[in-house]
This record gives sequence, C-alpha cells and structure tokens, in this order.
Amino acid sequence: MASTNLAIPRSVIWNEESISLLNQQKIPHVTEYLELTTIKDVWEAIQSLKVRGAPAIGITAAFGLALSALQDISETIVDFQRNIKKNRDYLASSRPTAVNLVWALDRLVNSISNVQSINEAKTTIVHEAIQIQIEDEEVCRLIGEHALSVFQKGDRVMTICNAGSIATAKYGTALAPFYLAKEKNVNLSVYACETRPVLQGARLTTWELMQAGIDVTLITDNMAAHTIKSKNISAIIVGADRIAANGDTANKIGTFNLALLAKAFNIPFYVAAPLSTFDPMIENGDLIPIEERNPEEVTELNGIRVAPEGVKVFNPAFDVTPNHLISGIITEKGILSNDYQKEISKLFSA
Ligand code: MRU
Repeated sequence: MASTNLAIPRSVIWNEESISLLNQQKIPHVTEYLELTTIKDVWEAIQSLKVRGAPAIGITAAFGLALSALQDISETIVDFQRNIKKNRDYLASSRPTAVNLVWALDRLVNSISNVQSINEAKTTIVHEAIQIQIEDEEVCRLIGEHALSVFQKGDRVMTICNAGSIATAKYGTALAPFYLAKEKNVNLSVYACETRPVLQGARLTTWELMQAGIDVTLITDNMAAHTIKSKNISAIIVGADRIAANGDTANKIGTFNLALLAKAFNIPFYVAAPLSTFDPMIENGDLIPIEERNPEEVTELNGIRVAPEGVKVFNPAFDVTPNHLISGIITEKGILSNDYQKEISKLFSA
C-alpha cells in the first residue's frame, strides 16, 4: 500500500561510544548533529531542549545510561549497579514532566537486576536501550494507523508543539497519521500552532512536515479560535508528556486552551501517546509535576528582550487537559474513549 518514500528525520542515533543527536535548538536554520560522549552531555542536551519530546527524551536518556555503563570501571557488580542507580537518578533530574524519561531509565535498571557479571550487565543495558528505540518506531507507526482511522480524506487538523518524528524514534505520535496518510496518498492538511514560548510548532513541526511534502500551515497560538472557525478545522490532535490513571493529560502549554476550543466548536480533540507516556501510579492530572522554565523564554524572542526589565514572569512548560475534554486517547493498542479510568486500569493490569 505504501507508495512514497518520505524524508522522515531522526533525532537520536546510537554509535556505541557516542550518541549523535539532532540539535533541535538550531532547527530550522541549521541541521547539525551533536556528538554526546558523557552522561553530563546527555543531561545538558535534555535540560536545554536540544532533544525534546517525551519519547525522544526517554530514548536519549536510555542511551546516556548505556554510555555511562560502558564507561564504568567498577570492579564488582554491586558497585556497578550502585553507579547505574546513581546515574539513573542524575538523568531523571533533567526534566520533570515527561514520564517516558523515568520509564526508559527504570527499564534499563530493571534489566540488570539479575545479571551475574559486569560484562553481562553492560551488554544487557546497551541492548535494552537499543530495543526501546526500535520498539518506539513500531509503536508510533501503530499509533499512526489507529489515528488515521479517525480522519477523513481532505480533513484539516490542528496540532500544537511538536509530537513528530524528531520527538520520537520515528513518525511521532500526533504527527504519525499525517506521515501514513502521505504514504497512502490520502490528502490531509495540518494547521500547526507556533507554540510560544519556544516555538516547537513554528520551528520543528513545520520543518519536518514540509520535508515530507505534507501540507502544513503555520498560525500563532492566539489565531486558533479564528482558524478553527474560518478554515473549517475538523479535529485537533496533540501528543502527551504524562497521562494520569484517570486520563487527565499533561502536554505542552496551550494544549488545554485547544481542548476548550474543541469543545466550544464541537469538534473532536484527540491525544496520541504510547503506553510509555501513561503513569498509572498518578491518580489524576493535579498530581503531575509541571516544569517551570527560565523567565527569559518569555521575556525574549530570539535573544532579543521584548518585555520590560524586572517584569514578573510565570512560565509553565506544560498544562493539564482534564479527561472529560478528550474525545479519544490513541495508543499503539487502540483508541481509548469511554471510561478512561477503567480502560487505563485494564491496559496496565494485563
Ligand atoms: O517541552 P517539549 O518540547 O519537550 O514538549 C513536548 C510536548 O509537549 C510533546 O507534545 C510531547 O512530549 C509528546 S512528543 C511525541
């Protein structure tokens, strides 16, 4: 069925002794890959948004822990495991909201709980990190297939932030259906909100969709209501950083606004996310930690100050959309759409 060979960019490449990382801070002006060789490089890259997007953060952190494992010079397995746990905590502290980060790190830590030797532990950790990346690509493709089933040919769909290929192993979550539609010659149009303050929509979503020849139109965030009305937007689809046990969803700041608009205009609002983005241990969205970032992200544009010196700033990087505003949560296992509490609990008890 696939008819087109699309240019789909990748953000994280494992090279055994280093990680090549697409520097998302420089997109769209410069396409450069950084060589990360230490766990400190990895922490800094995640914290400074050189890599961002929940699954990509998890994959990068996993490779960071793998690098630290390969460089470890412990003489006993007990010391080795202690170092790995310390490095796990260090990497986990790079960003607080996306649960994929700790999900990936804990998967690596758990993978070596029964190993007999340091060599076996090193091989196991590297294998597990590679596996996380391989699985994420397949998971994103499946999310894309399920998501595609809710759209009709010719639909105009709005999104925010970047939940695309460079935010994952490949394809993305919210953007996956557009890649698959393009492969199948199904015509869909994307309306991308610019996503202040750091413009993931303007810089990244447009960049990756345009490379694949997918129809994309950029708007500023405050144009969303007018655009939904005047361009006949048929649905909104977004990614997620953490989904609580009741379906409340944290995603990029501005997502909650779009969910409220979807309700006002009576159009569906979808969240697309892998199971690794669910946190069934967190009862509801009020308990999700929300990252607050530097005030300069708000007071400056491209390094140029736009607000008065000394102004007070509130800069939350994420907001939480309550479950009742979500028409469906699209996962690799299918679409959840009724009693989220019950469906999520079923998914995680299986
Ligand atoms: O601050 P960011 O750019 O890491 O925020 C990213 C998002 O909010 C994405 O929508 C989410 O991580 C899903 S990426 C598939």
